[in-house]
Amino acid sequence: MKRNKISIIGAGQIGGVLAQLIALRQLGDVVLYDIIEDMPQGKALDIVEASRVDGFDVSIRGTNDYKDIQGSDLVIVTAGLPRKPGMSRDDLLVTNAKIMQTVAENVKKYCPGSISIIISNPLDAMVTLFQKITGFPHNKVIGQAGVLDSSRFATFISWELGVSVKDVNALVLGGHGDTMVPIVRYANVNGIPVMELLEKKYKDKAKAEEVMKAMVERTKMAGGEVVKLLKTGSAFYSPASSSIAMAEAIIFDEKRVLPVCAFINGEFNVSGYYVGVPAVIGANGVESIIEFSLNAEEKALLENSVSAVKSLVADMERLGF
Ligand code: NAD
Ligand code: LAC
Repeated sequence: MKRNKISIIGAGQIGGVLAQLIALRQLGDVVLYDIIEDMPQGKALDIVEASRVDGFDVSIRGTNDYKDIQGSDLVIVTAGLPRKPGMSRDDLLVTNAKIMQTVAENVKKYCPGSISIIISNPLDAMVTLFQKITGFPHNKVIGQAGVLDSSRFATFISWELGVSVKDVNALVLGGHGDTMVPIVRYANVNGIPVMELLEKKYKDKAKAEEVMKAMVERTKMAGGEVVKLLKTGSAFYSPASSSIAMAEAIIFDEKRVLPVCAFINGEFNVSGYYVGVPAVIGANGVESIIEFSLNAEEKALLENSVSAVKSLVADMERLGF
């Protein structure tokens, strides 16, 4: 049986960690592509030189030539620039959309039949554009955001309650931006509602609500919080790990229920857009979308987030993509 071939487009911060995680978990042979000459080759060599120590024997190859991604089973796209001082949102959208155009054309050419996980920002627009250019089936083009946003929410809940994060289930829906929707009502610790535990802790409903509100706001702004601390760049360990969870669900046909940026057609009252929703992820990518009931407040928040995604996509189209 042949080993999986996994190509990573963009060998920056996230791309490098992804390559190392794939090697450590022996998920497949890696091709690490970037436009910067020698850099992906350097990262690949650095990672592979730890193979004796870490005990993995997959191949990791850095390249500046798209031909090397030929026949990949899985493609993970991290190519893109972060926003620089003085750059407007539209400037970033144009820059990254141009990058995504080239990436998508090459993935279409060299990896038809592959499944793609898109990480580049602005996430919801980049996934939309990648699918539009490749014409790949919607279930085979998936964006990573919800796994990370939900993990951040779960982390804050575990710290607040002093329980293992492994026992916290928390879900974030919507677009990957300030309007994302952490679903408070369903957040639980091994099935026990988080709100009930907070009320027990504070013996005060209003205080419990205030604490939860702060965790929700922190989740929504968590990407920015890391940027502020790092000063040069954005989060990269957690986005890489989150994408690996998606990659493993696909490679091992796990049928995991993960919040991902998936194309939805009618679910949650949305049609024809990529939005963060829970989906069953397996060998065919997004195998189904799991719709569940939302109350009026949650519906309004999700509608607001979907509007933000729609306006981002409309901006991208207005700019010629
Ligand atoms: P980075 O700047 O370290 O890496 C990006 C890489 O893309 C660079 O090495 C650059 O040379 C490369 N690149 C630029 N143009 C390219 C092209 N045309 N073809 C191929 N490669 C090209 O950035 P990073 O920290 O790795 O982040 C990558 C992307 O992921 C950014 O857009 C960032 O905003 C986004 N991000 C997404 C999430 C998420 O949850 N979805 C989280 C964090 C960051
Ligand atoms: C994050 C941004 C950068 O969530 O996408 O970290």
